[in-house]
Amino acid sequence: MSPPADGARWATLTPTAAAVHQAWPALAGHWYIAATGRELRRRPLARTVLGLPLALFRSAGGRPAALLDRCPHRNVALAGGRLARGCLACPYHGWQFDAAGACRTLPGLPEGAPSAQAARATPAFATLEQQGFVWVYLGDDAPSSGPPAIAHLSERGYTSFSGAAGLLTAALPDALENFLDGLHTHFVHAGLIRREGHRREVTVTVRRTAGGAAAEYPEAPSGFIARLFGGGLDRAVGAFRLPCVAALDYWAGPRLKLGLTLHFTPVDAAHVRLFAVGVAPAPALGGRLGEPLLVALMRLALRQDAAILAAQAANLARFGGPRYAYTPLDVLRPHIQRLLRHGPSAEGLPAEQRVAMRL
Ligand code: FES
Ligand SMILES: [Fe+2]
Repeated sequence: MSPPADGARWATLTPTAAAVHQAWPALAGHWYIAATGRELRRRPLARTVLGLPLALFRSAGGRPAALLDRCPHRNVALAGGRLARGCLACPYHGWQFDAAGACRTLPGLPEGAPSAQAARATPAFATLEQQGFVWVYLGDDAPSSGPPAIAHLSERGYTSFSGAAGLLTAALPDALENFLDGLHTHFVHAGLIRREGHRREVTVTVRRTAGGAAAEYPEAPSGFIARLFGGGLDRAVGAFRLPCVAALDYWAGPRLKLGLTLHFTPVDAAHVRLFAVGVAPAPALGGRLGEPLLVALMRLALRQDAAILAAQAANLARFGGPRYAYTPLDVLRPHIQRLLRHGPSAEGLPAEQRVAMRL
């Protein structure tokens, strides 16, 4: 087995980052969505990604920047500071840092006084605004490429929505599994996604993909949301992609009806921040009833998932951690678990399998 990508000197910066890196080593060396472009305005924003506290701010020209959220002077959080001519000024003694983390201004220091520049710098992380999201790269070296493009978002011929979708109290594998699992939908989303009285036997095909795994369900969900698609829905594909992406694509024959993608940004071992993207061929998502209704119903489904995940996390805490039973119906969980740990070359998983279930 090839060793997991390391590239994780950043993980030595806090105990939480070290714990996250130890649990899921394959998460190092990737881009993560830290915020939407709209969330990052004129004030700095505190965000934690993979256990690493970051101060996000808009530097010269409005470009986003991410610094370790700790002033090198007396270690106050920089995100509590303010913007000053493209720099971020610490709220305590006003040291000002540029996008690269260099201290540009030290109020009170006489001109020409000797200074140790390096000791006054704070770590900075590669940051890029793309497709309405602010991405941060957590790896030791400069990233070899930019964040992955989100397919069809704002593309001609497609209609789309995207944005922040809240904070989940859940461990990362539990959150990813939840979004891609069909068998909770009859209960957590009863009527909305599936209905208990309308199960049919289907054969689900589970495949390894490049950097992930996907499960194909040859059916239209029996709940209300599927009816908004206006008929013809015959296939849904749920896919996990490293580092932390879960996508659900609904198809009618060869035509994509709706692609719903959740980008999960791990905050720490017990919390995940969600960013959602929905795309569909134009003119409208959700057929004649329209996009606003579909978006409202999806928000409702996300709230239902957030509630059951929080309840799961609370009970895990009562018992001191998970002791899970597995069945063949847990089609993607083993893939998610191994890929998070070992990366795209994870071994011990079948390339393809078929699983019968009553969905
Ligand atoms: S603690 Fe930041 S300038 Fe003193
Ligand atoms: Fe769900």
